Amino acid sequence: MKFVCVLAVFIVCAAAVTIHQVKNTRQCKAEGGICKQTCAVDDEDTGPCCRNSYRCCQPCNDTLQYAQCKAKNGEIKPVCDVNEQDTGIGPFCNPNRCCEPPTCIVDCNCRSSTSNCHWPTEYQDNAGNCSGSDKCCMPCCLTCGGTFKGPEGSFTSPNYPSNYCNDQICSYTIIVEEGSKVMFNFTFVKLENKFFDSLTDTVQVYDGEISTDTLLATLDDGPFEGLEFNSTSNKMIIVFKSDFLDVFPGFSAIYKTLQ
Ligand SMILES: *[C@@H]1O[C@H](CO)[C@@H](O)[C@H](O)[C@H]1NC(C)=O
Ligand SMILES: *[C@@H]1O[C@H](CO)[C@@H](O)[C@H](O)[C@H]1NC(C)=O
Ligand SMILES: *[C@@H]1O[C@H](CO)[C@@H](O)[C@H](O)[C@H]1NC(C)=O
Ligand SMILES: *[C@@H]1O[C@H](CO)[C@@H](O)[C@H](O)[C@H]1NC(C)=O
Repeated sequence: MKFVCVLAVFIVCAAAVTIHQVKNTRQCKAEGGICKQTCAVDDEDTGPCCRNSYRCCQPCNDTLQYAQCKAKNGEIKPVCDVNEQDTGIGPFCNPNRCCEPPTCIVDCNCRSSTSNCHWPTEYQDNAGNCSGSDKCCMPCCLTCGGTFKGPEGSFTSPNYPSNYCNDQICSYTIIVEEGSKVMFNFTFVKLENKFFDSLTDTVQVYDGEISTDTLLATLDDGPFEGLEFNSTSNKMIIVFKSDFLDVFPGFSAIYKTLQ
């Protein structure tokens, strides 16, 4: 009797497992779908469906790739823009990335002694807390510079309109359509003013490649709102440098294509 009972339980269990498996397998509705632990880069994850938490994957359909970007302000792009970070979230169809603004908090909230704040001894973390003691903290410094290939665009020094950081070098390359020229215009400039030649923060405008012949201007201090430069080729390079002392809002600029 005991044996029959155990056998009956076993049969019921086996049947339940079989039904369970069939049911879960049947939930995989992707066309040509197969169950995998992870979807490959060119696979679309169609959602949970297979037993053992396997996924149902199907070949990528370009119109579906956008659904996979789960970042907060995520947008799928071939390349992340300047001052955006690649969230590394994937997989995506094609070599696309999910980008969002950096989590860097610009305003320092634990500065208690400004006299000590010239030296980059402490940095703010993503929660806005300083490392080490709370004597002095520096704003978290964003990566900067980049290549701009659109027919028109704009960019700023890092952290603008908050202050840039000490010891930064940022290079911004503008490349417009072959045969056209670049019209570049500062919409705001406020940098450290010159104390010694070698001891200041500057923004330099180059016509084409970086060389002494093509240097159009080296600016410090400001304001230079509306100061305009035209290139002779389809390329212009703007180089921003800050030294180890004093920080200011920096610059913002726009460019357009001249036909
Ligand atoms: C891609 O997905 C869309 C929406 O699901 C569908 O309408 C379209 O036919 C699919 N294209 C291909 C090539 O599978
Ligand atoms: C940052 O500071 C807040 C407030 O003091 C605290 O609650 C939080 O745990 C701190 N975060 C970290 C990562 O230390
Ligand atoms: C350049 O920038 C200044 C200041 O923002 C603005 O008034 C002016 O219209 C701009 N010029 C061009 C050609 O965009
Ligand atoms: C740049 O080119 C435009 C269009 O030809 C012209 O209006 C403008 O005055 C030029 N600016 C400078 C600084 O040469």
